[in-house]
Amino acid sequence: MGVEMRETILVVDDEEAILKLVDDFFSARGYVVTTAANGAAAIGLLEQVEIDCCFTDINMPQMNGLELAEHIHRTHPALPVIIMTGYPSLENAVRTLKNGVVDFLIKPVNLREMELCLQRVLRQRSLFIENLVLKNEVKAKQRLEDLNRELTAKVDELDTLNRILTHYANTATSAEVFKRTVDLVLELVQADESRFYVLDEAARQPHQVAAAFRQPAGQNPSGDRSAVASRNAGDTDGSGMTSGLIMGVFADGIPLLVAENQDTQPVHEKMPSLMAVPLKIRAKVFGVLTAAAGAGKSFNEKALFYLSFATQSAATSIENLALYENIYENLFATLYAFVKALEARDLYTRQHSSRVTQISLAMGRALGCTQDELDVLHCAGHLHDIGKIGIRDDILLKPDRLTAEEFEKIKEHPVIGADILNQVGLWDRERKIIRCHHERFDGTGYPDGLRGENIPFLARILSVADAYDAMASDRSYRKRMEEARILEIILHGAGTQFDPAVVAAFNDLHRTQHLIPPRRTPLTAPASESS
Ligand SMILES: [Fe+2]
Repeated sequence: MGVEMRETILVVDDEEAILKLVDDFFSARGYVVTTAANGAAAIGLLEQVEIDCCFTDINMPQMNGLELAEHIHRTHPALPVIIMTGYPSLENAVRTLKNGVVDFLIKPVNLREMELCLQRVLRQRSLFIENLVLKNEVKAKQRLEDLNRELTAKVDELDTLNRILTHYANTATSAEVFKRTVDLVLELVQADESRFYVLDEAARQPHQVAAAFRQPAGQNPSGDRSAVASRNAGDTDGSGMTSGLIMGVFADGIPLLVAENQDTQPVHEKMPSLMAVPLKIRAKVFGVLTAAAGAGKSFNEKALFYLSFATQSAATSIENLALYENIYENLFATLYAFVKALEARDLYTRQHSSRVTQISLAMGRALGCTQDELDVLHCAGHLHDIGKIGIRDDILLKPDRLTAEEFEKIKEHPVIGADILNQVGLWDRERKIIRCHHERFDGTGYPDGLRGENIPFLARILSVADAYDAMASDRSYRKRMEEARILEIILHGAGTQFDPAVVAAFNDLHRTQHLIPPRRTPLTAPASESS
């Protein structure tokens, strides 16, 4: 029974006869038996053979059984040792038990008794090993769970950081960056409110430029208090964040974390948990972002880390916006300098683009254009004739009326202008307006013969302003037209050359004297037809 596993036992005794007896007995029962005549020989065997159980006598030459047991306990702690001795003593028993000896047999040993002992020890050993394996498995499982938890937390963190980074994509203005930041803070750290301050240098006070608040359940969403942005923070902003605390962050640039102090404060005086983080641009504190959370919540270092990361991302966005605006302005200034140089060569067209822009903007406002559209109109108005750079001087500066062939050349300027802006790659909408500023509402204009609503709305505005200024300016071959005559021509052009809605707005502005920009009358100079 139980011998299929072929356990190996080591029997150590200096009596040859006993070894022989034990060997025969256990070999017959299917065990593998190795024998040694003393402790030293046994140690040699242990190095070579995998042993499952060791029987040893105590009194032997060279190394006795107790020394052997001690050695095994040190080198093979899982190997059970059974002592067989003819001279049992309490002292020996205690010593052996201390050294991991699992059983004690009194000589003369009954072989059957020895076998029962062996079976018991082996069963205990296998249980012990099984237990050890289980313990290791549990330990490994726990480690795996810990690792998994750590990994999940790391992934969450990366996900959050990524969310912060992508949160600022396509922001067009700094105000938008501030608003997005405070909105993000509510969600990011579960704050009840978040505010962004810049420094009012004159008043030496923080000035709130954006705020967001968590709506208490059931509150009417139309009461969005974030609309109350742009007010000065007084002694406290309502969350317990004093202007002194905020000014402190402005001054030292060090993030502030006030965790809720639950132990020492009575409930009615309990401070909300607060954070304030500086937004730095090139090492200078540009603004301070705050977050507050009410009862039951407390910010920790992790929340502070997320808040700092959000302000860093916001700072990068603001810096990029400033950089973009700088490039935009530089480029616009360069291109407009070309236009002014062109116009300067011709006394009759000086300031033409500037006046056309002012008239267009007046009409755009009257027609309800957004600020964004007005900005586009501002750029397109100033640059609408930039394509004339590509027209030969003998045509451009010709003092007489143009021949049909020359006029065809002049008609190329909207396309050339659009191409120049295309090279720049910045102004898509402006480019389309410049290309279309000589299209006519009835589809007979150039370069594409677009009709009605197919012509960009802002180009339809520019077209009226351009025509008005051309007629209202002196030319080398004619004086400026009478104002009444110009108005008559423009009103007559409604629906053919011009968009009737734009003409109506023009007429209103003209009637109420809100249109006319200053104009200079040139003395004498060569001139060309304003196209
Ligand atoms: Fe033009």
